[in-house]
Amino acid sequence: MAHEREQDAGDADTGRTVRRDRAVRAAVEQGLLGPDAAVAGLLDVTGIRESAATLRTAFGAVTAPGTPVLHAFAVKATPLVPVLRLLHQEGFGAEVASPGELALARAAGVPPARTVLDSPAKTPAELREALALGIAVNADNPQELDRLDALVRSAPTGSPLGVRINPQVGGGTIGATSTATETSKFGVALRDEGAREWVVRAYLQRPWLTRLHAHTGSQGIPLPLMAQGVAETYALAEEINTRAGRRQVDTLDIGGGLPVNFTSERTAPTYAQFARLLAEAAPGLFGGRYGLVTEFGRSLLAKHGTVLARVEYTKSAGGRRIAVTHAGVQVATRTVYAPGAWPLRIAAYDAEGRPKQGPEVVQDVAGPACFSGDLLAEARALPALEQGDYAAALDTGAYYFAHHYAYNSLTRPGVYGFAPDGAGGIAFATVREPQTIAEVVAESGEAHASALTTLLPPRSR
Ligand SMILES: Cc1ncc(COP(=O)(O)O)c(C=O)c1O
Repeated sequence: MAHEREQDAGDADTGRTVRRDRAVRAAVEQGLLGPDAAVAGLLDVTGIRESAATLRTAFGAVTAPGTPVLHAFAVKATPLVPVLRLLHQEGFGAEVASPGELALARAAGVPPARTVLDSPAKTPAELREALALGIAVNADNPQELDRLDALVRSAPTGSPLGVRINPQVGGGTIGATSTATETSKFGVALRDEGAREWVVRAYLQRPWLTRLHAHTGSQGIPLPLMAQGVAETYALAEEINTRAGRRQVDTLDIGGGLPVNFTSERTAPTYAQFARLLAEAAPGLFGGRYGLVTEFGRSLLAKHGTVLARVEYTKSAGGRRIAVTHAGVQVATRTVYAPGAWPLRIAAYDAEGRPKQGPEVVQDVAGPACFSGDLLAEARALPALEQGDYAAALDTGAYYFAHHYAYNSLTRPGVYGFAPDGAGGIAFATVREPQTIAEVVAESGEAHASALTTLLPPRSR
């Protein structure tokens, strides 16, 4: 899997490989990486725009003309303000699941009317703020619905409100991202005894509940299972509306979750395939009787991000070659702790940022953290990485370098977006500044250095 040149990659996928190679070379030439900057995250702006357009087109092709469709990007996938602004410009909204994510969406300029709040642990203050702003809220459980009751009674709101259900259709290959298991913590478990009737009555008693939400799971969920989760949601909305004798539920929020192919450059499955599958699983879903909200995250961004890290040393242990790089658990946390579930492709570049050629050698690509499991890849066949070369962890644009893990007080790397500069070269823009050591020290209690040695009860200070 040295330097991927996939036979089965489509034109867009091949274009992405070419853009990435050029960007790596330019990043090294322009000094984004070098002796003083050992690791960086790169984002392919062209690729992000392409994915956004592909999603719009896929749903546009199956929905009746005039159907309102809001693609709300799941901010958790890439919580970076410039990325949210870029997607907003591409016509996207934001799905937020915490006060921090809401603040990011607002900083990016995403309007409340294109924002959806979904977290499972919303406080009264968060709910109040969301309703005051007119942000759509999906209640996770009966207790949250009680809180919404009180808020709706106390002040008028323009927020579209709904309930999240867990269709309990089952899990996928990764337990941690399976949200529709029998005992998942999310939403109202629809197949539990009495739950379906409870949900229907909850709607009949609250004319202001107009949305229904489900997110059947993320990476590892088979496509037919995702479609089944959406079909169950659609069927429940039909039941509510029939019993209400009117179109009370007017919008279905079908969540995100389209899986990403981490084994090759190919984009698979595609949004178009998923949209067609949904049309088969829930005929009527796209007919125009329901507005639609989607919440895709990983599938929009993953393939457009690259972690690029300098090889500091090479060595060998027990006959195994090891490249010690500056990218490990701090930027690829899931891969390091659960390598079986989250394998990453690695590409090898030389010290000038050119794709490495030469025979493949089985080697470990290790990170800088002080535990032996800190490996980006184990026993991977790649052209031999040498001191001063670069290792690139591919497909890391979602849930990777934007989700820093501060083990060993390793600094957050800088993130740079790239695009053609119009003159045959590559232009970079800073998306996130690299964190400094001084910031790490400040965030680690520097201002409270004597707090424990001079401990006094708070009131006597
Ligand atoms: C409610 C909800 N919507 C959307 C997403 C985004 O999922 P994905 O990034 O797999 O598209 C998640 C992921 O956890 C989620 O919990």
